[in-house]
Amino acid sequence: MVIGFIGLGNMAKAMISGILKDQLVNPEDIIGSSATQETMDRVSSEYGIRTNVSNKAVASAADILILAVKPLTLPVVLEEIMDAIDENKLIISVAAGKTTKWISQYFSRPVKIVRCMPNTPALVQEGCSALCRNENVTDEDLRTALRIIASFGTAEVVNENLMDVVGGVSGSSPAYVFMFIEAMADAAVKGGMQRKQAYRFAAQTVMGSARLMLESGRHPAELKDMVCSPGGTTIEGLEVLEQNGFRAAVMEAIGACVEKSKKL
Ligand SMILES: NC(=O)c1ccc[n+]([C@@H]2O[C@H](COP(=O)([O-])OP(=O)(O)OC[C@H]3O[C@@H](n4cnc5c(N)ncnc54)[C@H](OP(=O)(O)O)[C@@H]3O)[C@@H](O)[C@H]2O)c1
Repeated sequence: MVIGFIGLGNMAKAMISGILKDQLVNPEDIIGSSATQETMDRVSSEYGIRTNVSNKAVASAADILILAVKPLTLPVVLEEIMDAIDENKLIISVAAGKTTKWISQYFSRPVKIVRCMPNTPALVQEGCSALCRNENVTDEDLRTALRIIASFGTAEVVNENLMDVVGGVSGSSPAYVFMFIEAMADAAVKGGMQRKQAYRFAAQTVMGSARLMLESGRHPAELKDMVCSPGGTTIEGLEVLEQNGFRAAVMEAIGACVEKSKKL
């Protein structure tokens, strides 16, 4: 099985790392193209994969073709590769907002398309990805796609009409979580802590809280209540967050993200 990548940026590198870690294929069974020779040389020397300047040549060589370019670049790429895709190849697109139907319009025959929405924690194999398929993708194809995507984090199949919501809750949310961590650390710096140490405390607290919820299976409100002693310090901070519309702000931010995704 040959896995092709068109685009060798952050998301492609996260996926390549996961695929090689799980030994799904050997490095020489991965072939990739990107806009610049510099990127191809760098990724090739880092992972030992093959590269080719031609997107069409990569598409021809691949059994599974991963489209890992920005959404705005996708039309150009699809024009280049459309004649190299037959009904046996499986396309996996990670481009935000581009539906399986939109991609399929570039091809004159039925093609298998899986759409995936990963997020940047995939770079440390802690991604949270959703995937959906079009009608030509078989159950076996879907299992193959799931194995590839689960190599760099969790992977769940969703209905395509949920993909914009997935983009909001997991695709874009790392940005909001990093803002939250930064703000926590700024407050610690204000209180006298060294900045580097403050980032470690804030980030570990976010990671630990998430793990506690996932591993205990307990409701987030129950875990929140566990921290809030009667008359204690935490409930004071909680009141300030509520007064400042913390929950509403988070919901509105993710809602805005979902709406924008629908318009892409
Ligand atoms: N980053 C995220 O959080 C995230 C989350 C979910 C989904 N995604 C999706 O993942 C996709 C890739 O994002 P990314 O963050 O990996 O972007 P990126 O780091 O900017 O990588 C884009 C890659 O595309 C290559 N490229 C540009 N034009 C090309 C062309 N005409 N032919 C072949 N390759 C070309 C670039 O080549 P050079 O390096 O040579 O310039 C680069 O390697 C996007 O569609 C995005 O929507 C990203």
